Amino acid sequence: MLLSRSTDADWEQWGQQDPYFAVITDDALRQDRLTPEGLSQFFTSGEHHMQDVFARIRRHIDSEFMPKRGLDFGCGTGRLVLPMSARMDDVTGMDISSTMLAETQRNVEARRLRNVRFARSDDNLSQLEGKYDFIHSYIVLQHIPEIRGRVLFKRLIDHMASGGVGALHILFNNTIHPDPFGQTSPSLIARIWMLKRHIRRLVPRLLGRKADPEMQMNSYNLNFIFATLQAAGIREMHTSLQDHGNAHSAVFYFRKP
Ligand SMILES: C[S@@+](CC[C@H](N)C(=O)[O-])C[C@H]1O[C@@H](n2cnc3c(N)ncnc32)[C@H](O)[C@@H]1O
Repeated sequence: MLLSRSTDADWEQWGQQDPYFAVITDDALRQDRLTPEGLSQFFTSGEHHMQDVFARIRRHIDSEFMPKRGLDFGCGTGRLVLPMSARMDDVTGMDISSTMLAETQRNVEARRLRNVRFARSDDNLSQLEGKYDFIHSYIVLQHIPEIRGRVLFKRLIDHMASGGVGALHILFNNTIHPDPFGQTSPSLIARIWMLKRHIRRLVPRLLGRKADPEMQMNSYNLNFIFATLQAAGIREMHTSLQDHGNAHSAVFYFRKP
């Protein structure tokens, strides 16, 4: 099936070709247009995101939330690792792309941060050691085929310490995805969108030019997400719904008992 093939090579390619654009798809972040101002705005957006995450956790989950050991799963170029490192003793940035991880490391070293570790991802999360009292992931699982992402979601919950807090972002509907709201046959609009996507990658290749790698947008079945959280003993959650036009997603905030 088209959307279940591995995405890892694509992400390595994104890391090599256009790492900042691959995180926030804004043309100003294309590698050949990157400016110090563009980069500064990129990292400011990470700080704002983390302020919002902490405010929600303190308002809805734990008013005294002060994690010590955090994981940012799918850290990209470190946009969210940097603000996490200012808020806890020990942060791990994990990514499937070694080039993305190297870019995070460059950004961490440039700021002389001493409390960040780096881990290469795999489907067993085998480089993670022990438990974390904060596990965070934003705009990552959507780029992984659901069949693999479900396993990763479970493993992330397994790596949470008792009393730890999770903030995990899930895409649950994509109106141009072949499988909106669990419908099995691709709609006409989805078929046209997929065709356009393939032509956009094929034409530059035929002309001998560099094309963007694929960036999949996979929605997840919320029944599975809720059942997994429930099986881990979670009974209450705060949900922040996000609407990016065609893509509807949620960040789930919860505490593991
Ligand atoms: C859109 S970027 C988001 C980066 C970061 N979370 C942020 O918001 O700044 C998605 C990241 O997920 C990473 N990724 C994709 N598949 C992954 C996997 N199986 N395990 C860990 N990271 C993965 C990509 O390499 C990429 O760096």
